[in-house]
Amino acid sequence: MRNKKSSFIMLFCALSLTALLSGCGSSNKEGNASTTALDSVAKVDEALCAQCHGSSYNAQSGMPIYSEYVQSKHFINSTGNVVGCQDCHGGGAQHNGVGPMPYPNPDAAGKCFVCHKPEFLGQFNTNKVPTAIQKAHFYNITGAGVHDAMYVTKNFENGCTACHEPHNPLLGKGAAERKAWAGSGHGLVSNAPFADEDFKTSTACIRCHTSTGYVNFLKSGWTTAFPATSWATPGDNGREVLTCRTCHNNDSFSVRATTAFTIPYNSGKSPKVLPNISKSNLCVACHSGRENEDSIESVTDFSNASFKNSHYKAGAALMYMSAGFRNFTTQSTVIGTGTTATTYAKTLNPDNVSVPTYGIAGGVTSTHRKLGTTMINGDSHNKAVFVPGSFDDNGPCVTCHLNANGAPTGNDPATGRRPATGHSWKIDENAVAQVCINCHSSETADISGPVPVANQAALDLFLEEQSTASTDSLEVITYLLLNNWGIKYDGDVYPYFYDMTLDPTGKTVLKDWTRSALRGGVKDQAFGKRMMGAAFNLQLITKDPGAFAHARTYVRRLIYDSIDWLDNGIMDFSSGATAKAAFPLLFIQDTQAFNAVDGRITTLFGTTTADMTYLLGYSRSTGQWSSPERP
Ligand code: HEC
Ligand code: HEC
Ligand code: HEC
Ligand code: HEC
Ligand code: HEC
Ligand code: HEC
Ligand code: HEC
Ligand code: HEC
Ligand code: HEC
Repeated sequence: MRNKKSSFIMLFCALSLTALLSGCGSSNKEGNASTTALDSVAKVDEALCAQCHGSSYNAQSGMPIYSEYVQSKHFINSTGNVVGCQDCHGGGAQHNGVGPMPYPNPDAAGKCFVCHKPEFLGQFNTNKVPTAIQKAHFYNITGAGVHDAMYVTKNFENGCTACHEPHNPLLGKGAAERKAWAGSGHGLVSNAPFADEDFKTSTACIRCHTSTGYVNFLKSGWTTAFPATSWATPGDNGREVLTCRTCHNNDSFSVRATTAFTIPYNSGKSPKVLPNISKSNLCVACHSGRENEDSIESVTDFSNASFKNSHYKAGAALMYMSAGFRNFTTQSTVIGTGTTATTYAKTLNPDNVSVPTYGIAGGVTSTHRKLGTTMINGDSHNKAVFVPGSFDDNGPCVTCHLNANGAPTGNDPATGRRPATGHSWKIDENAVAQVCINCHSSETADISGPVPVANQAALDLFLEEQSTASTDSLEVITYLLLNNWGIKYDGDVYPYFYDMTLDPTGKTVLKDWTRSALRGGVKDQAFGKRMMGAAFNLQLITKDPGAFAHARTYVRRLIYDSIDWLDNGIMDFSSGATAKAAFPLLFIQDTQAFNAVDGRITTLFGTTTADMTYLLGYSRSTGQWSSPERP
C-alpha cells in the first residue's frame, strides 16, 4: 500500500509543477510555511490506521469510515495508485490515536481541491477528457453577462463535502440524491436563475439565487431585512447553484433546522407570517415571490408606474393565499343571498386554523395545505392512512415533492421513502404511489398496466386536464388586456406588459395603467391600481406551473375576479359570459355543470366543457351551477 501510494504521488505531482508547490501530500517540502509544517509530519504504515479505525464511524455522516473508504475510488481507482488516509489527513507519526492528525478535516483544509483542481480536469478518467460533470464543477467565468454557474465557487473550494460524503465521495451516502439533484432545476448550472447575472453582487437577490446567501438568511432567523451583505470580491465571477448545503449541514446531509418563515413582501414593509411547517419552511423561503397586493397599494401614481412583478414559481404564495390582488372591490361586499351569502373577503383569505397569523374565521380551507401537518390526521379521504405519525411531519411542500414521512405506501419498503428521496422535486409516478393515490385513486390509478408506468400515465392525464383548464382561463385575461385595454402580455420578455396604444409593435413598456388615452384623458388612480392588480394575478399564476394544484380554489377565484373586473371595470358576475364570447369553443355552458349520482358529481353534463367548470362555481353534490356564478 505504501509503495503504491508514493508512486501515485509522483505520478500525480508530475501533472503540474505549480500545483505541486501548493501542496501535494507529505512529499512536498516546498509549500508555504503554514502548511509545510503540517505536511512534513511523517507518514506511518496505513495498516495501523485500519487497525484502530476499522470500525470507527464518522460522527457527522453516521457512516463507517474504513468500509466506506475501501469501496471508494481513492482506494481502488483507474490510476492503479492508492490515495491513502494520510494523503488526505496528513502524516500519522504524531498521532497513534492520541496525538494530533495534521488535517482532521482535510476538506476544510483544502486537500480535496488541491488534488482535484480545475487544472486537472479529465486527468482522473481513462480517456482524459473532462466530463460534463467535471466542467460543471469548475466552469471558468471571465466576465459579466450571462454565464453558466458552477458547483465549486470560492465558497466551495473547501466544501466538497457539502455534496460528497468524504470516505466514499462518489458512491457513499447521498449518491442517489446527488444524481437526482444534478438533473433538477436546483442544480442546473446553465439555467437562468443562476446564470443570468452575478446574483451574489445584489443583496436583494442572494437569498434565493445563491446557496451561501440563502444560508446566511436562514441562519439570521429569516430577519426581514434582506441579507445586508454580498460576498462578491473583485475578480471572482463564480456563480452558485443551490448546492446540498442550501438545505443540509455539511458532511452529514442532516436537514437544517428552521423556524416559521415570514415573507418580506413590499421590501419587508408588508410581512406575512406563515405557520411553522417543519422541513417545508426551507422551501417557502424561496417559493413565495417578492411582491404582493400591498406592493401594488404602495404605488402612488399609476399613470406612470413600473409593473410590480410577483416573481417566479411562487407556489407558497398561492398555497398560503398571501400574494394575489383582491381589491377589485371592497372586501366586505356581500355576495349571494340567504344561506349561501358570503363576502369577497371570506373567499380570498385562508382560514385562521391552518394560517393563524393572517387567516380569517370561515376563510378558505385546503386539504393540500394540511398535508405534512398534524391537521391531516383523521382526514376523511383515507382515515386508515391519515393517522398520527403518517404524512403529518414534513410540511406540504416536502410531502408532495420530496417525501411524506411515515407513508405506508412509500415505494422503498425498507425505508418508506421515495427513490433518492425525491431530489428531482418532480411530481412523478413515485409521488403518486406515495401520496396522491391515497385521495385521488380514481383519477390516478384508472389506467391498467404495470405500476409505476400506469401511475405516470394517469398522473399526466389528470394534471394536464387541470393545467389546461387553468391556462385557458388565464388566456381570457390576456385577451381582455389586449382587446379592451391595449395591453400586450408577453410572459417571456421582462417586464412582461407592453402598451399597444403607444406602439402597435408591442415593444414599448407599459407605464400608464390608468389607460387615460382610452378613457378621455382621465387618470383614475383606483382604476389604474386594479389594472395592475389584474395583470399581477395573471403573472403570479402563469409563473407557477403548479398553481392549479397548489391552491385550486384561490386560483380559480383570482382568475374569475380579474376577468370580471377587466371586462367592464365593474364586479358584476359577468366572467362566464365574457369567456364564452371570447373563446366560444373552449367555454361552453350547458344547463348544468356535471351529472350527479347519489349526491356526488360524475361526468360533465351535456355540452359543458371542463374549462367552463374551472372558471365557474358549481355544487359538488348536485352538479348544478352556483348562483351567483363565482367559484
Ligand atoms: C478523500 C480524503 C479522505 C480520505 C482518503 C480519508 N479521510 Fe477521513 N475524513 C475526511 C474528511 C473530509 C473528514 C472530515 C469530514 C467529516 O467528518 O465528515 C474525515 C474525517 C475522519 C475522521 C473523524 C471522524 C469524526 O467522526 O469526526 C476519522 C477518524 C477519519 N477521517 C479517519 C480516516 C481513516 C482511518 C482513513 C483511511 C482508512 C481516512 N479517514 C481516509 C477525508 C478523508
Ligand atoms: C492506536 C490507535 C489509533 C491509530 C493507530 C490511529 N488512530 Fe486515529 N484516532 C484514534 C482515536 C482513539 C481517536 C480519537 C477518537 C476518534 O475520533 O475516533 C482518533 C482520531 C482520529 C482522527 C480525528 C482527529 C480529530 O482531531 O478529530 C483522525 C482524522 C484519525 N484518527 C485518523 C487516523 C489515521 C489516518 C491513522 C493512520 C495514520 C490513525 N488515525 C491511526 C485511534 C488511532
Ligand atoms: C492525493 C490526491 C487526492 C485527494 C487529496 C483527494 N482525491 Fe479524490 N481522487 C484522487 C484520485 C487519484 C482519484 C481516482 C481517479 C480515478 O479513478 O481515475 C480520485 C477519485 C475521486 C472521486 C471519484 C471519481 C470517479 O470518477 O469515480 C471523487 C468523487 C473524489 N475523488 C472526491 C474527492 C474528495 C471529496 C476529496 C476530499 C474529501 C478528495 N477526492 C481528495 C485524488 C485525490
Ligand atoms: C454542488 C454540489 C457539488 C460540489 C460542491 C462538489 N461536487 Fe463533485 N460532483 C457533484 C455531482 C452532482 C457529481 C456527479 C453525480 C454523481 O455521480 O454523483 C459529482 C461528481 C464528482 C466527481 C466525479 C466526476 C466524474 O466525471 O464522474 C469528482 C471527482 C468530484 N465530484 C469531485 C469533487 C471535488 C473534489 C469537490 C470539491 C472541490 C466537489 N466534487 C464538489 C456535485 C458536487
Ligand atoms: C423570494 C426568492 C427570490 C428573490 C428574492 C429573487 N428571486 Fe429571482 N427567482 C426566484 C425563483 C424561485 C426563480 C425561478 C423561476 C423559474 O425558473 O421560472 C427565479 C428566477 C429568476 C430569473 C429567471 C427568470 C426566467 O424567466 O427564467 C431571473 C432573471 C431572476 N429571478 C432575477 C432576480 C433578481 C435580479 C433578483 C433580485 C433583484 C431576484 N431574482 C430575487 C426567486 C427569487
Ligand atoms: C432544497 C432543499 C434540499 C436540497 C438542495 C438538497 N436536499 Fe437532501 N433533503 C432535503 C429534505 C427536506 C430532506 C428530508 C426528506 C425526508 O424527511 O424524508 C432531504 C433528505 C436527504 C437525505 C436523506 C437524509 C436522511 O436522514 O436519511 C440525503 C442523503 C440527502 N437529502 C442528500 C442530499 C444531497 C447529496 C444533496 C445535494 C446533491 C441534497 N440532499 C440537496 C432537502 C434538500
Ligand atoms: C434558495 C432558494 C430555494 C430553495 C430553498 C428551494 N427552491 Fe425550489 N427553486 C428555486 C429556484 C431558483 C428554482 C428555479 C431553478 C431553475 O429554473 O433552474 C427552483 C425550482 C424548483 C422546482 C422546479 C424544478 C425543476 O426541475 O424545474 C421545484 C419543483 C422546486 N423548486 C421545489 C422546491 C421544494 C419542494 C423546496 C423545498 C424542499 C425548494 N424548492 C427549495 C429556489 C429554491
Ligand atoms: C398536493 C401536492 C403538492 C403540494 C402540497 C405542493 N405541490 Fe408544488 N406542485 C404540485 C404539482 C401537481 C405541480 C405541477 C407539476 C407538473 O405539472 O408536473 C407542482 C409544481 C410546483 C413547482 C413548479 C415545478 C416546475 O416544473 O416548474 C414548484 C416550484 C412547486 N410546485 C413548489 C411547491 C412548494 C414551495 C410547495 C409548498 C408551499 C408545494 N409546491 C406544495 C403538487 C404539490
Ligand atoms: C389528503 C388527500 C389528498 C392528497 C394526498 C392529494 N390531494 Fe389533490 N386534492 C384533494 C382535494 C380534497 C381536492 C379538492 C380541493 C378543492 O377543490 O378545494 C384536491 C384537488 C386536486 C387537484 C385539482 C383538481 C380537482 O380534482 O379538484 C389536483 C390537480 C390535485 N388535487 C393533485 C394532487 C396531486 C398531484 C397529489 C399528489 C402529489 C395530490 N393531489 C394529493 C385531496 C388530496
